[in-house]
Amino acid sequence: MTRQNDIKRISELRSEVSKHNDLYYQQANPKISDTEYDALLSELTQLEAKYPDQYSPDSPTQKVGSDSDDRFPSAPHTIPMASLQNSYQLEEIQLFTDRIDRELEDREYKFDVEPKIDGVAVALRFKDGKLELGLTRGDGKFGDVITENVATLNGVGNLPENWQGTVNGCSHFEVRGEAFLSLSMFRKLNKDRVRQGNAPFANPRNATAGTLKTLDSKIVKERGLSVYFYRLFNCDGSELFETHEQEIAAIETLNLPVNPFFRTTKTIDDIRSVLEQLEANRSELDYQIDGAVIKLDNLAQCAALGSTAKAPRWGIAYKYAAEEVETVLNDITLQVGRTGVITPVAELEPVQLAGSLVSRATLHNWEEIERKDIRIGDTVVVAKGGDVIPKILSALKDQRSGNESEIPQPESCPICNSRTESPEGQVAVKCVNYHCAARLSARLRHFVSRDAADIEGLGGKWIDAFIESGKLTSIQDIFKLQHNELRVLPGLGDKSATRLITGLKASAKRPWANKIFSLGIPQVGITTATILARNSINIRKLEELSQETLEDLEDIGPIVAAEIIAWFSSEDTQTMLSELLECNYLLEAELVPVTTIETFSGLTFVITGTLGKMTRGEAKALIKKHGGKVTGSVSSKTSYLVAGEKAGSKLDKARKLEVKILTEEQLLSMTKTEAVDE
Ligand code: IVH
Repeated sequence: MTRQNDIKRISELRSEVSKHNDLYYQQANPKISDTEYDALLSELTQLEAKYPDQYSPDSPTQKVGSDSDDRFPSAPHTIPMASLQNSYQLEEIQLFTDRIDRELEDREYKFDVEPKIDGVAVALRFKDGKLELGLTRGDGKFGDVITENVATLNGVGNLPENWQGTVNGCSHFEVRGEAFLSLSMFRKLNKDRVRQGNAPFANPRNATAGTLKTLDSKIVKERGLSVYFYRLFNCDGSELFETHEQEIAAIETLNLPVNPFFRTTKTIDDIRSVLEQLEANRSELDYQIDGAVIKLDNLAQCAALGSTAKAPRWGIAYKYAAEEVETVLNDITLQVGRTGVITPVAELEPVQLAGSLVSRATLHNWEEIERKDIRIGDTVVVAKGGDVIPKILSALKDQRSGNESEIPQPESCPICNSRTESPEGQVAVKCVNYHCAARLSARLRHFVSRDAADIEGLGGKWIDAFIESGKLTSIQDIFKLQHNELRVLPGLGDKSATRLITGLKASAKRPWANKIFSLGIPQVGITTATILARNSINIRKLEELSQETLEDLEDIGPIVAAEIIAWFSSEDTQTMLSELLECNYLLEAELVPVTTIETFSGLTFVITGTLGKMTRGEAKALIKKHGGKVTGSVSSKTSYLVAGEKAGSKLDKARKLEVKILTEEQLLSMTKTEAVDE
């Protein structure tokens, strides 16, 4: 029973963490603090360690989140760009240093401590003295090419005069660092944006991420991004120095910016005192730091320690706890989302928090309001993990005057006045009206968004205007928009109308997974949509998947499966689907599965018994093609045993070691990763 519950929890956590990866990396719009994120990830890591047979290469514990953006070409990294293990307490740093001490046995070692800048990682390659390529982290293996943009980073264009273009004899090397926007530039940028009627960026990190992904490098230059570099190595992946300290000194001799705060330490006591110094300095800095990074100084020792799938073993990040401030909760406004969920939003007396002005905070739902006993008029404690939508932690009840008022659950929708309901087992309060203007607007915004149908030229402003004028009453109405009626609209014009119509036509070519995501099935984010796409070839095949089949899919539990089934059974859904098929956004035609490489990266397979469809050699080639390794004998390190007919002792051993066992069919279906339409 516990095992069953734990496995269910693993699946829930995988979806949850993937969802937050998506919000953080893809949408630059995180919804939970780093601390909360790390707590989820750590729970998942522990559960996965307890059940090795549940191993999955797709688990978010096995890969870094991706910020890849298809508007930019991508290029492979010289060596992967990983992230660091996070820690929040000195005890965790102690565990880290103890481990290093054990692993390095009697060898001498020291640690360097640097500020952890809260920005965006970049990699710059130099060849023969010239900037050759600039990349974002992307998914860690491939980054987006943003060379022209990184060339504008402060200091990058300031290479030494008479420099021969080499570092330690190497003429093709890479530097890595963190790009960021100083607090002063951030405030100026937001002031300008508000003046021009644009929404301000929530924080400097989001502003940096958004700026680096701007197509016009002139705009990037105007924004004045900065960078501090912390790595320099040969593009063939080898090191050019013995120590990190030397590496930093070499970066400095190239006139490339490095953080002025850099301390070398030996013991945990040294580390503690440096962390204290840094924290004391924090408010003086003109940029945001979210902690410190502690790294082993000797690069050969770093290499010897190696990495886990996600993070190197030679370093650790020490993150500061979320900052907290007190302010008054002036009012509650209600937001109605695409699935009808009504979210209470706290309107706060504006207050400075972790470098930005905060005037709203999310309250999630009424269960949370009741649990925390929050009332309008309360003085509340608001916290932010550096870069997230602020949260109300608690209400200061001893400061109540008696004039505070409770926050009632809405009995009707604030937008369309329809009744609300709280579905059993859910804490959400929902507007029941599928056609509610707020739900429709949210549905349409979701549909056109980048991970969905990606229809350029149909922003939220136009969506709301079209809803208001009755032009859009459903998603499928988008495809009825006509160029000649759009081009005459004041403020739209011929060019924008053409862009919109082109975007609409192009959307038919979106990958199947993105189309599934675009439909707005409750609880189906892009990760779940990708899993569904791997297991269906078109909308009608998707519809045929039963509750049981859905539950068997990775990351999908009974609740999500039931939501999918319920969504298909609604009349509104069916009307939409038939119309989307009619206008050729959804296709009856079969979608051709294509394979992506590296699905099995980091996995070890053993093949045993007689296979029916392939020879063992073909199976081996298939696994290798997808980045996996094939070995001859089963051990606890084996990820999967592929067992054919008459499998013998290897099968027994795999069972004993709880190694996951695959049939030939399962192996084949695992290599069909993404379905796209032809
Ligand atoms: S070292 C394996 N040093 O933090 C990655 N990273 O969570 C080693 N960061 O991706 C990175 N300041 O974007 C390093 N002084 C610093 C840093 C730093 C900020 C970021 C970087 C990295 C992330 C790791």
